[in-house]
Amino acid sequence: MRIAMIGTGYVGLVSGACFSEFGVSVTCVDKDAGKIERLKRGEIPIYEPGLEQLVASNTAAGRLGFTTELKPAVVGADAVFIAVGTPSRRGDGHADLSYVFAAAAEIAEALAEAPADRTVVVTKSTVPVGTGRRVERILRNRLPHGRFDIASNPEFLREGSAIQDFMRPDRVVIGTDSEHARGVLGALYRPLYLLETPMVFTTLESAELIKYAANAFLATKITFINEMADLCEAVGADVQDIARGIGLDGRIGRKFLHAGPGFGGSCFPKDCQALIRTAEIAKRPLAVVDTVLRVNDARKRRMADRIAEACGGDVFGKTLAVLGLTFKPNTDDMRDSPSLSILPVLHEAGARIHAFDPEGMDEARKLMPELTYFGDAYATMEGADALVLITEWNEFRALDLERVKSLLRQPLVIDLRNIYKPDEMIAAGLTYHSIGRPPASQPGDKTLTEKPAGLRVIA
Ligand SMILES: NC(=O)c1ccc[n+]([C@@H]2O[C@H](COP(=O)([O-])OP(=O)(O)OC[C@H]3O[C@@H](n4cnc5c(N)ncnc54)[C@H](O)[C@@H]3O)[C@@H](O)[C@H]2O)c1
Repeated sequence: MRIAMIGTGYVGLVSGACFSEFGVSVTCVDKDAGKIERLKRGEIPIYEPGLEQLVASNTAAGRLGFTTELKPAVVGADAVFIAVGTPSRRGDGHADLSYVFAAAAEIAEALAEAPADRTVVVTKSTVPVGTGRRVERILRNRLPHGRFDIASNPEFLREGSAIQDFMRPDRVVIGTDSEHARGVLGALYRPLYLLETPMVFTTLESAELIKYAANAFLATKITFINEMADLCEAVGADVQDIARGIGLDGRIGRKFLHAGPGFGGSCFPKDCQALIRTAEIAKRPLAVVDTVLRVNDARKRRMADRIAEACGGDVFGKTLAVLGLTFKPNTDDMRDSPSLSILPVLHEAGARIHAFDPEGMDEARKLMPELTYFGDAYATMEGADALVLITEWNEFRALDLERVKSLLRQPLVIDLRNIYKPDEMIAAGLTYHSIGRPPASQPGDKTLTEKPAGLRVIA
């Protein structure tokens, strides 16, 4: 089989490489000539574990190619996937579908030159319900007698574990009313049948909505546990025990119950926004999702205050060592990262910010040029008044605490991801603040139970 992947970003590149690993002949198309040039040289434009090897081996095997030319990639393909970006439209929060529609128009143009072929046009981008039908109309207007089929195949991979997610998904969702499209997509995903991956065959509309419903639900779960963390701080409970205590209930599940600074990333914020807009248009407002988004935005903004509070109420003239800038570990993606809501505010308040991230600094430099960037974790800490952990990269989980203490001017650690245990930090002589957990008790200190706020200075 032969397919074309239109858009070679996080989703298009990973999906294209994985389909080629399944034995399919894949051409990845992108408008960004620089990106395609790099890929042709074997350079991977994003950071995603395992991707470089996967792309290299499949390119060498002749199954994976890269081009800026859409037409030759599309003509003769069994299926054409649209995997372009659908960011929030500036101003109103609707999904910006201009890239999807532009790609659909280009596909229509290409197919107009290949009337004998039958092509399945598949939307892999996250698009609001009804978009597939609009893509169909764009194609039908240009190809009144053309042989094409429309399908929706939303993608659920997570950056940082994208290859594993694509190769071993919890499910594959395919929405179409065409028997031919079902056959072609079923054949493309056949290697997953061996793993007994559940296949959800449904309508175009349902497939489109499943993707938004999944992201909105996960965003709700995170926001729920974050609010529980706030309550824990007020009443002296431990949010990690709450998460375990409720997560062991199979109806709730243990994943996505980690309290933190609020969700960010390239999907949850914009997808919740777009879903809310879709629901408004349908006159079925989604009060829960709307609240989740508002609570999460407020939380991210509040994190700067919490850091300032932990620093004694003011960060003016202080140096903060910040570890982790990306929205989550194992990616270089900075889109909507909580660090973008927190650090500019602290800088504005007069803090000097020394930052390090294993993969996100190139992008972070463009978005936050006011920060000073360092080459490793310990270099950021030298002479700093506090250490702030924002993203839980593995390499930050086992810092040499003695060295941390000796490098910091004040032995103060503010951990927005709860990656350390309060007791081990106290034992190391550090003043430690985390999310939703009672401050570690110090020997003989009974007053702490009376002031359980997670970010209060306790030393
Ligand atoms: N990033 C994720 O983790 C993730 C997960 C699941 C779903 N999604 C969804 O997948 C879609 C793509 O997301 P992404 O993160 O890969 O975006 P991205 O911005 O990384 O990549 C999009 C690519 O499409 C290219 N492009 C735009 N218009 C084009 C055209 N007409 N022809 C050829 N190339 C074109 C851009 O140059 C860019 O390289 C979005 O709808 C997103 O919501 C993303």
